[in-house]
Amino acid sequence: MRIDILSIFPEMFEGPFSESIIKRAQEKGLAEIHIHDIRAYSTSKHKRVDDYPYGGGAGMVMMAEPIVAAIEDLKSKVNYDAVIFMTPDGELFNQNIANRFSSFNNIILLCGHYKGIDERIRENYITHEISIGDYVLSGGELAAMIVTDALIRLIPGVLGDETSALSDSFQDGLLSPPVYTRPSDFRGFKVPDILLSGNDKIIVEWKHQQSIERTKKRRPDLLENTDF
Ligand code: 6GU
Repeated sequence: MRIDILSIFPEMFEGPFSESIIKRAQEKGLAEIHIHDIRAYSTSKHKRVDDYPYGGGAGMVMMAEPIVAAIEDLKSKVNYDAVIFMTPDGELFNQNIANRFSSFNNIILLCGHYKGIDERIRENYITHEISIGDYVLSGGELAAMIVTDALIRLIPGVLGDETSALSDSFQDGLLSPPVYTRPSDFRGFKVPDILLSGNDKIIVEWKHQQSIERTKKRRPDLLENTDF
């Protein structure tokens, strides 16, 4: 999978993308991430990327020209399955969307700033609009990092244990069960006996039951259209 990110703060991505799973996925050749500075596509003298809104109002608007120039430059070299705009008024990101996007070969993530981007970009160049939650961030960069992480860990071969993405919370619509490691007695706090029993069938059933209980208690909204 190839992800091209358009941002006016390209340096923000350096730390998060050079650590952990995202780094490993790139080293293994399973993911290719390219960060592009929108400012490099500005043709104005002072590399301007924003301007005052028509009709007045607070805040600046990101101009169509540099963003569209960047998108067109990328499209001239690569075929994209999606051009995704990161925005608080987009569709709420969840595991289903992550699963769907992770099957794409090439995507563009556009990070917005200021009061937004010129509406004509959204109408004519954007295929999907995504929000990561009902709160406002200063820009789309952190949201783009979150979406990137969620997609990359789903690519086959990225996670060490092939099954571990499948056992994630949300992947089967349930939260994960509690987990424990050694020692079995930590300051008198004990690991549940069943997990030490060695009876695999009972353990699997217990974990499933714990998942259901936990989801009922913490996220009943996830169970609304299920039989649990
Ligand atoms: Cl994608 N961008 C911004 N600026 N704020 C957000 C968001 C995105 N998702 C939730 N809040």
